[in-house]
Amino acid sequence: MQSGPLIEIQNLTVSYHRTPAIRAISLKLQDHGIIGVIGPNGAGKSTLLKAILGLVPIEHGSVRVYGEPVDRVRQKISYVPQKEIIDWDFPVNVYDVVMMGRYVHLGTFERPGPRDRKIVESAIEKVNMVEYKNQQIGNLSGGQQQRVFLARALAQESEILLLDEPFVGVDAATEQAIIDLMHGLNKEGKMVIVVNHDLGKVQEYFQYLIMINQWLIAYGPTREVFQPELLSKTYGGRLTILQKSERLFNIAK
Ligand SMILES: Nc1ncnc2c1ncn2[C@@H]1O[C@H](COP(=O)(O)OP(=O)(O)OP(=O)(O)O)[C@@H](O)[C@H]1O
Ligand SMILES: [Mg+2]
Repeated sequence: MQSGPLIEIQNLTVSYHRTPAIRAISLKLQDHGIIGVIGPNGAGKSTLLKAILGLVPIEHGSVRVYGEPVDRVRQKISYVPQKEIIDWDFPVNVYDVVMMGRYVHLGTFERPGPRDRKIVESAIEKVNMVEYKNQQIGNLSGGQQQRVFLARALAQESEILLLDEPFVGVDAATEQAIIDLMHGLNKEGKMVIVVNHDLGKVQEYFQYLIMINQWLIAYGPTREVFQPELLSKTYGGRLTILQKSERLFNIAK
């Protein structure tokens, strides 16, 4: 018997205009610590997250979350997209963006209550954005915006978090704060899946890894799958690997 969050992907193919972005992927994701998703540009990493969320049409196969189709459990999953699409001219402040995380819990005409406000305040605090909470989101730096979107995901209090490149554009201190936060959430029993570009940090950050390049190349404990043969299979000729004191560095782009 399996307890805790579980995502089951079976023979999943997703295409855009009939061209497959991910092909025949099968994965059974359990709570394995923080799960990283790696692969080259265009490998289908973002598409995989979107398929888990039900945001892209599935051509073949299925995705089940807790054994259910995703539209039934959608509020249990929070998502920080790779690049937030937002109408920057629309006047919305940090507090309001984070409050959006609470909407999945509210009825159609229900307004946020004191508990929602408390959760939002606490999420803003966790990402260290208290002093910016009344600022318009469009006036913030890229890294600050990223922290706000993370706070929105936290405010949703979901059991599964999907983060697409959360470290892009943030400084080293923020990156560390985000990863600490992820570990804390995972210890509370939440499932955390993170698409990440920087191979230098993979071994430090993720307990499990999904390696994809349209096809699934490997899924397993990082210490087992983060090795030259599987990495070159994932990145093809584009990766040059240097093995230095047992660490792997990505030096080619
Ligand atoms: N909305 C879309 N319409 C058409 N093609 C798309 C769309 N979104 C993605 N694709 C294509 O699908 C493939 C996979 O894209 P995806 O964004 O999933 O890759 P990725 O691994 O996240 O890449 P990156 O590292 O650049 O973020 C790419 O070839 C991309 O051009
Ligand atoms: Mg992507």
